[in-house]
Amino acid sequence: MSPGGVLRGEVTVPGDKSISHRAVLFGAIAEGVTTVDGFLESEDCLATLHAMQAMGVSIERPGPGRVVVHGVGLRGLKAPSAPLDMGNAGTAMRLSMGLLAGQGFDSTLVGDPSLTRRPMERAAAPLRLMGAHIVTTDGKPPVRVQGGVSLRGIEYDLSVPSAQVKSAILIAGLYASGATTVYEHAITRDHTERMLRAFGVPVVSAQGSVSLQGPARLLGTHIDVPGDISSAAFFLVAAALAAEGRFRILNVGMNPTRIGVIEILRLMGADIEVERARLVGDEPVADLCVRAVPLNGIEVPPHLVPLAIDEFPVLFVAAACARGTTVVSGASELKVKESDRIAVMAEGLMALGINAQATADGMRIEGGVLQGGQVDSHGDHRIAMAFAVAALRARADIEIMDVANVATSFPEFASLARGVGFRLQAVT
Ligand code: S3P
Repeated sequence: MSPGGVLRGEVTVPGDKSISHRAVLFGAIAEGVTTVDGFLESEDCLATLHAMQAMGVSIERPGPGRVVVHGVGLRGLKAPSAPLDMGNAGTAMRLSMGLLAGQGFDSTLVGDPSLTRRPMERAAAPLRLMGAHIVTTDGKPPVRVQGGVSLRGIEYDLSVPSAQVKSAILIAGLYASGATTVYEHAITRDHTERMLRAFGVPVVSAQGSVSLQGPARLLGTHIDVPGDISSAAFFLVAAALAAEGRFRILNVGMNPTRIGVIEILRLMGADIEVERARLVGDEPVADLCVRAVPLNGIEVPPHLVPLAIDEFPVLFVAAACARGTTVVSGASELKVKESDRIAVMAEGLMALGINAQATADGMRIEGGVLQGGQVDSHGDHRIAMAFAVAALRARADIEIMDVANVATSFPEFASLARGVGFRLQAVT
């Protein structure tokens, strides 16, 4: 990345990763055909798609972003002939654990070295309470799921704020007898609940709880996937730091459980306008119009942390460019993402001359002037893209190492970013 540059024009970010995973997974166990538009064709979502194909589901991809899933019904999946490889995708693995717990066959889930370091007991433990037979490897992948057991509904209090765990339990609940209820103390993304309703499952959400009755029936439907606010976040911060005039980000998913990044940036002083707010299928969508203004350091309110959990790498960059100090706490979940995002971001920001101190559950960042240097993304897509944003405000080149995994969530990032003004060059 060469230093400096301004952002001009507008960008349309690709489909939402969380929604794309769920569309293919629910389509696979629905009765009839499910059509999906705006599917994110990234490595992570393709891992879910390939896993469904490996279990006998016929899936067509007639054009960019369009997927047609020929659902086999709740009991129609077939035993895969090899372990299901979830690559880098935590969502694919944890949601699949819930799905596989209810099948009549045994299966094994594996992942890449990053996923193989991530905790899986948080999903396995509640599934075992439902009757599932699941064995993790010291709490991590590979995960072995024994089929042919009867599941029963449970009431479960989520101890970690995790939509993946909530979803794994609800998906197993589709196969279980009786009611499955999950209680949560912090709000996490609710795409599973919304989409199951679109597939005809009466899911009941109340303040702090979500409940469904099993066994359930899913009916094929059409899903329009909105743009991913987690991908939009890189352009949102980039524009807040370096837009020339107004910069627009089009077709951004605005689900209230995902918009913490907008609220945090606004608290920092960012000028973000929401335009053309509308509903696309079951999800709110809008265009965002951003102008660059000086940002201020803040203490991030803890209730916003789960609503912006994937956006902290780039929010830390915003904090590094802000006036004053930013403090993030209550964010220990960041340590078990694709990398330890607290340690890796603190290391990278310090390499660029910013005083960033990792704390037990967050970070303290003093805004300053970014220098050039080399940073290691540790194979984490969002860290790599966050440092590309940092380069817009750096004094010299930033070289970002280990960036191939950007393709797990945002394969078009480099071309879209160059198109609006990032000075990004590939180094071989
Ligand atoms: C996701 C939930 C979040 C998020 C991940 C996608 C989902 O993970 O970080 O990128 O699709 O449910 P946790 O549930 O582990 O917080």
